Amino acid sequence: MKKTVIKGTGRYLASRLVTNEDLTKLMDTSDEWIQKRTGIKQRFWIQEDEKIGVSDLGLEASKIALKRAKWSPDDIDLIIFGTLSPDMHFPGSGCLLQHKLGLEKTPAFDIRQQCSAFLYGLTMADAFICSGHANRILFVGAEIHSTALVKETRGRDVSVIFGDGAGAVCLEGVDTDQPVGILSSVLHSQGELATSLMMAVPASNITEDDIRQGRHNPFMDGRNVFKTAVRRLPEVANDALAKAELSVDDIDLVILHQANLRINQAVQQSMKLPDDKIFNNIQRYGNMTAASIPVALDEAIEKNIVKKGSTLLFLGLGAGVTWGGVIYKHS
Ligand code: COA
Repeated sequence: MKKTVIKGTGRYLASRLVTNEDLTKLMDTSDEWIQKRTGIKQRFWIQEDEKIGVSDLGLEASKIALKRAKWSPDDIDLIIFGTLSPDMHFPGSGCLLQHKLGLEKTPAFDIRQQCSAFLYGLTMADAFICSGHANRILFVGAEIHSTALVKETRGRDVSVIFGDGAGAVCLEGVDTDQPVGILSSVLHSQGELATSLMMAVPASNITEDDIRQGRHNPFMDGRNVFKTAVRRLPEVANDALAKAELSVDDIDLVILHQANLRINQAVQQSMKLPDDKIFNNIQRYGNMTAASIPVALDEAIEKNIVKKGSTLLFLGLGAGVTWGGVIYKHS
């Protein structure tokens, strides 16, 4: 029976370290406010004059993941690219990455699942692999938020939260009866809450009024997103556990999307997880949307917190709203 396992991971951060203190020079905020409300101490943004897109950050993360998986780009059957900040409206950044990897015909597509892109991406990769459509899939989550943020007091509720970076994961189908790889997955969306977190400007027919009204800037109803996340994440965790016929005690590490440390602490409390069963790095990177979970996974593997045999629970919620949970046993 085919199981989807992770063969290699990689991460790549934008090059400009931006501390909370740096932000106080741009807007009315403070290190104390940001840390208390979000846990974030710093984030990385691309350089102001840097003309790069997410496919460039994704390429660097992919090179590392490919090397660790001992794959060459030619080994890839399919690329899934998660981003809300693509290089351009169309074509998707997956196609741009495909070309940058030196590939000629390898299929590639983008998914628009924002902060739950990793959950949707893993599930789609698993479906492609188990149905025989592809056996080696590169998932990339990459974001450049900094160029769309309003770096003034009027945009401070959003702009202090987000960072730029990329994470990549090489996923492969293996034939085994062992309980390894993706064990269960549960996905949801609730379009009713679409306006809680959005960039309202349409992808076509942009008017001057859209620009005047700031519809090209991200909007977030932070409290609503917070409340929804704290309710939905423990719920989907339980559903994913039930589907895999596991209990929370079987999980070695929960890797949540890094949206806000307080959300993650509330989920931790609700699931009664000890500190060593949850991984957070938002303090150093901020929220990198589609990149957050793959970057966190890469760090947890590098720090040997995730080892062969570790059972992981990935959880995330974001714009859409979309959310999901995936249980994975590392091999
Ligand atoms: N610095 C200082 N003050 C700020 C600020 C900043 N960066 N951003 C907002 N404020 C102010 C507000 O203007 C408000 O002032 P007022 O009381 O004078 O009106 C006050 O702080 C409280 O704002 P509020 O929005 O109620 O704070 P909050 O406790 O809800 O925290 C978030 C705001 C955004 C940190 C929080 O709602 C959150 O993290 N939500 C989830 C967001 C998220 O996860 N997004 C990504 C989803 S994937």
